[in-house]
Amino acid sequence: MLNSETIHPDHHHAPRAEGDRPLGEVKKVTEESNGAIRLHYTQGTLDFALYGDDFIQVTLLGTGDSNAVAGTKEVELPAVLPAEYVIDGQKLTLQGNKQVVEIDLQSSWITFGTKDGAFARQSGLSWNAQWKASAYFAKTAASRFYGLGEKAGFLNKAGERYEMWNTDVYSPHVQDIDALYQSIPFVIHADKEGAYGIFLDNPGRTFVDMRSFADSFSFGCAAGALRYYVITGPDLKSVVSRYTQLTGRAPMPPKWSLGYHQSRYSYMDQEEVLTLARTFREKGIPCDAIYLDIHYMESYRVFTFDPIRFPDPKAMMAELKEMGIRIVPIVDPGVKKTASDAVYREGLANDYFCRFIEGELFSGKVWPGESVFPDFSDPAAAAWWGDLHAFYTEIGISGIWNDMNEPSVFDSESKTMDAEVMHNNDGQPRTHGELHNLYGLWMSKATYLGLERLLDGERPFVLTRAGYAGIQKYAAVWTGDNRSYWEHLAQSIPMIMNLGMSGVAFTGADVGGFASHSGGELLARWTQAGALLPYFRNHSELGSIRQEPWAFGAAVEQICREYILLRYRLLPTIYSLFKEANETGVPIVRPLVLEYPNDPFVTNMNDQYMLGTDILLAPVLKPGVACRSVYLPEGQWYDYWTGERLSGGRHVLANAPLETMPIYIRGGAIIVEQGENAQHTTDPAAAAIRHIELYASASSSAETNQKLHYEDDGLTDQYRNGQYMNRELILQETHHSVSFSTRVVHAGLGEQTQAVSLTIHGLRNQLNQVRAWSSDNREIERLESIAVESNAAGTRMTLEFEQWPARIEWT
Ligand code: GLC
Repeated sequence: MLNSETIHPDHHHAPRAEGDRPLGEVKKVTEESNGAIRLHYTQGTLDFALYGDDFIQVTLLGTGDSNAVAGTKEVELPAVLPAEYVIDGQKLTLQGNKQVVEIDLQSSWITFGTKDGAFARQSGLSWNAQWKASAYFAKTAASRFYGLGEKAGFLNKAGERYEMWNTDVYSPHVQDIDALYQSIPFVIHADKEGAYGIFLDNPGRTFVDMRSFADSFSFGCAAGALRYYVITGPDLKSVVSRYTQLTGRAPMPPKWSLGYHQSRYSYMDQEEVLTLARTFREKGIPCDAIYLDIHYMESYRVFTFDPIRFPDPKAMMAELKEMGIRIVPIVDPGVKKTASDAVYREGLANDYFCRFIEGELFSGKVWPGESVFPDFSDPAAAAWWGDLHAFYTEIGISGIWNDMNEPSVFDSESKTMDAEVMHNNDGQPRTHGELHNLYGLWMSKATYLGLERLLDGERPFVLTRAGYAGIQKYAAVWTGDNRSYWEHLAQSIPMIMNLGMSGVAFTGADVGGFASHSGGELLARWTQAGALLPYFRNHSELGSIRQEPWAFGAAVEQICREYILLRYRLLPTIYSLFKEANETGVPIVRPLVLEYPNDPFVTNMNDQYMLGTDILLAPVLKPGVACRSVYLPEGQWYDYWTGERLSGGRHVLANAPLETMPIYIRGGAIIVEQGENAQHTTDPAAAAIRHIELYASASSSAETNQKLHYEDDGLTDQYRNGQYMNRELILQETHHSVSFSTRVVHAGLGEQTQAVSLTIHGLRNQLNQVRAWSSDNREIERLESIAVESNAAGTRMTLEFEQWPARIEWT
């Protein structure tokens, strides 16, 4: 609890601390062996390296370590390309293939641009006692800021200032708590000219300040080198995509991790878990995973099962498997410091735990009591930790939940690991203070790679609370200990959207709220919103009122069931979006500004989001509400529930009684759904049939809409070896005809016998002749149209096929 002492005058720090020291003048320029151009100022060095065509790496004070920038299986890192420079008077110009950097040699003013012109101006670089180094970039009143990872508050971060220092925050997450569990020092500057990004690759304490100065925003670090990448635009999507070229893209998740997940702190014993699973099946509510929180362990010791509560985990797993339900156990980094613990003994014998430089072990209290912490930055310790997961994989577990990995330490003054503790850092030792924000990422990386080794080709699933830039390569992220507050439901939307704009696409918040007590109306609304966010888990705290989908009576249960079913119905579309994120880094859930960057109404839209390009969601985020205002961007939109067509570029009032979350589909959309009533992602009911929903664009000119539909086995890494199916789906509309064609562009999945039903919405009434062709170009004679209905939005026609049709034409 804070009191007024918090605002004592002695605690006040001016944003630009006294004694800022500028760099001085450039004395000489050298070309370094790593391809960088080095400017030697009176007070330090400043390096420039041009990466690929789209990145400018700047390093102040030293050579810097690359902490998050690494090539992956998904995406190759751009190479450092030789730069040419010329000095003309007091101006040095650096030229890459596309980049142009102009440096004023006397003032350290720097202009960043491409051959098309300048897009950013750096107005200063300095260091002082509080922040080792800071950089200032010009901004205007029209500047908007996105990204910055997991931060509370609104989508547009203009006017905010954040510190990055991974922190376990149980206090209610409010707008001005600036450091939560994840630190991603990546910011996108946008205005009507376009967008560019800055990624500050420093995992110590850093800040990004968009508040303190009217004409500039600044960022800086407290330790290590100030190394940042300026990422060219000019549009938001390419900035996000390029940022993930540096920090990596997520592998395809196992499909089961995209289902509905049920968690609680804690399901206390084996019988409770099994009863829970049976209840889902009895009630016909889909579920793919149940989580085991800390009570599954013996005295909260990792890599154990409590022998009384969970006497036969193997038998439990076997029964759950029959029901299509997986288990995800929690694994925290703290290892109980006791000679009776085998993991402690083994880790100690091999020197895998973090120590002070003098050799003393670092220990502190977490759930098991006094604990030590593996040094996951030591490759040997990381491999050991990963291999320990055989304990779980041997009984059929392939998903792990990493928590408390900031790390959280209850009894230390800083509430985390002492800044003086040393990390091996792959043979380049550094203090914890310099690398703090990497600890959670290291843990999830060790876990992911360990599972990958143990699972024999099956895809691992890791969920993490803490992380740093690049965490998307190893884990999904949930937003930690939110509360059952309506405000937290509302806040989760911009949080998730900004995480997506920061490269982390697989994210969600605890549905229903973790701490405090949920209620029926809140759970219904939260389940509606959560159903169409990337990661979908209901989780609640010890001692809180129960919040399983049936906890608040039949009416709320039915709403939860319907929206969980909707999630499963839309899984083929969601899965294709995961593939897009895997290939481009563009997030699954998008703020409207990502799709409509020139629309002034959506620059700070916090209460609506898009699933890909076609599905617009307007969740209800307040109690006692039965309608809400919805902004529809330009174009035509269809009310998902009523089929009504509405023209966009305006606000509409949506009907939203408790059972309805307003959903709109873009005219021109192609949406692939799966069979009804699947109870889990491997339910055969889900695989047998695909529904294609087409929404005519109804525009006055000819229009073509295109989509890539992706499918693979949903479970193994064979998609990396070409075992997947990619179909191009094209909807073409002219005034005289509408046609829909499908073409297999990659057939790597073997024979698929999928029935297809297809519904077209909003077809002009006069286009009532329909013909179809199969992939071998034969006209399909018996065309069953199973429903034709006309309303103000046009005709809706549903057709059925025994397999994917190649072409359908309405004339
Ligand atoms: C932390 C986690 C929460 C978990 C609890 C007990 O508070 O954030 O999700 O339930 O620890 O493990």
